[in-house]
Amino acid sequence: MANLPPSPAAGPIRFVLNGEDRVVDGLLPTTTLLDYLRRSERLTGTKEGCAEGDCGACTVIVAEADGEGGLHRRSVNACIQFLPAMNGRAVETVEHLGRDGLNPIQAAMVEKHASQCGFCTPGFAMQLHAGWLNGMITDRQSVKDVVAGNLCRCTGYGPIVEAGLALAQLPPPQDTAGDAALAQRLAAIEGNGVFCYEADGGRWFAPCNVDDLADLYAAHPDALLVAGATDVGLWVTKQHRSLPLVIDISHVRDLQVVEEAAGVVYFGAGVTHRAATETLAGIHPDLGEMMRRFAGAQIRNAGTIGGNIANGSPIGDLAPCLIALDAHLHLRRGEETRRLPLADFFLEYGKQDRREGEFVVAVEVPRLAEDQRFFAHKISKRFDSDISAVMAAFRLSFDGAAISDARLAFGGMAGTPKRAARAEAALVGRRFDREAAEAAAAALAEDFTPLTDMRASARYRLATAQNLLRRFALQKTGEIGTKLGDISPEPGGVSTGAAA
Ligand SMILES: Cc1cc2nc3c(=O)[nH]c(=O)nc-3n(C[C@H](O)[C@H](O)[C@H](O)COP(=O)(O)OP(=O)(O)OC[C@H]3O[C@@H](n4cnc5c(N)ncnc54)[C@H](O)[C@@H]3O)c2cc1C
Ligand code: FES
Ligand code: FES
Repeated sequence: MANLPPSPAAGPIRFVLNGEDRVVDGLLPTTTLLDYLRRSERLTGTKEGCAEGDCGACTVIVAEADGEGGLHRRSVNACIQFLPAMNGRAVETVEHLGRDGLNPIQAAMVEKHASQCGFCTPGFAMQLHAGWLNGMITDRQSVKDVVAGNLCRCTGYGPIVEAGLALAQLPPPQDTAGDAALAQRLAAIEGNGVFCYEADGGRWFAPCNVDDLADLYAAHPDALLVAGATDVGLWVTKQHRSLPLVIDISHVRDLQVVEEAAGVVYFGAGVTHRAATETLAGIHPDLGEMMRRFAGAQIRNAGTIGGNIANGSPIGDLAPCLIALDAHLHLRRGEETRRLPLADFFLEYGKQDRREGEFVVAVEVPRLAEDQRFFAHKISKRFDSDISAVMAAFRLSFDGAAISDARLAFGGMAGTPKRAARAEAALVGRRFDREAAEAAAAALAEDFTPLTDMRASARYRLATAQNLLRRFALQKTGEIGTKLGDISPEPGGVSTGAAA
């Protein structure tokens, strides 16, 4: 353990903005990147639409050293990113995009008439540019996925998608030497110690390794941990909360690992949704599809697995999936560590089994065994980039044709993500067919008394949860396929919802 002093010496925020060094002091630590860009830098090309990560008008690109001599670039919503989190990072705004004349995406947007009032245009241009740089633009669907977190109120999406599609034909620019030089510059700013920034009565710490984080949090258990800030950012922009003491864990590299051993995948708490998606999809395709519909790309580039669990949300998408998979959490407080079934972490609405000064280190997820079948499906009002009304995830284990173990987990049905104990009991020992699904669906009504809110009525939630169970049974019997909207049977009548 590093035995840090509880309050390392404070210094200014140092980062690179559109290629130039910046040293910033005197601004409240919870100043958003967007407010800084628009008010202090007068870079007003980056717009504010919603101030809650939902419209993409504020999209900028953030780059950081990838630890291997190169750069990792990602688009984020500047409206919910805090300025001190940019320490040791580089920010690129729309003003930089056209510095040498129209960039290919700007030219394509002009050519395809992809802008009318223009308010959303810088955000779309930045988002499509980021998708292009990261090799994510390959076909029409990929363009739609890249811009699912961007809203346009007047052009209609057709011309915007056409403009994005033009990039699929162009190889993204490569500047390996330039990237390496910037990566070196950023790594030198970031260093390996604890960054500390203080201004206007607020304090911000950013450790770089998990031991320093443990020391700091033990010394300051009243601090608020911030990872991707995709929840916490809104506490400031929408609820106007003041956050006097923050520990930013987004620079802690030890929390950003995805490792695998003996059929168990270990996701560090700081792994972003984007970084986790491929591995999750490899556990089961339904998890890949769930992640495709999890917020928009900018949120997935910042939000973390640990944040999605630790926030204790009853409508978070990952928790039901991971509970169904029998995941375990790794927690740490000072030197003390413990391992806990994820299902036991959620105690009641707003209350988790997390002690003062304790943080989530990782979540450990077993892969599916040969005799297990899995299903996960998200129901939301809008298909893309929306919070769930109901999230269902099921894992059934079979002994021959009979169900030997059932784990049915739901979000949106109670004050926490929760298993359906009675419905599970109704399934064990039976074949998984229509009758078994009906018995489990009836038992669900005893497991849950869901709420009515703006997302869905209690009746809708229950009926939907029951129908998802029926859907899984029909997939298993081969009466319908496994893809959304696919009601044809699988070839050979066998469900492909098998262990992946
Ligand atoms: C526009 C928008 C769309 C969204 N869509 C979805 C969606 O489709 N599905 C969904 O599930 N969620 C969605 N969210 C919610 C949010 O993006 C996720 O919950 C995200 O995973 C939170 O992670 P974060 O790293 O940003 O957390 P933060 O905002 O940094 O932190 C959230 C909470 O977790 C705590 N915390 C973070 N990391 C740790 C840790 N390692 N140990 C202990 N405590 C920790 C923080 O103290 C805080 O209380 C959306 C949010 C927005 C703004
Ligand atoms: S202003 Fe809407 S996402 Fe940032
Ligand atoms: S062009 Fe007006 S909002 Fe998109």
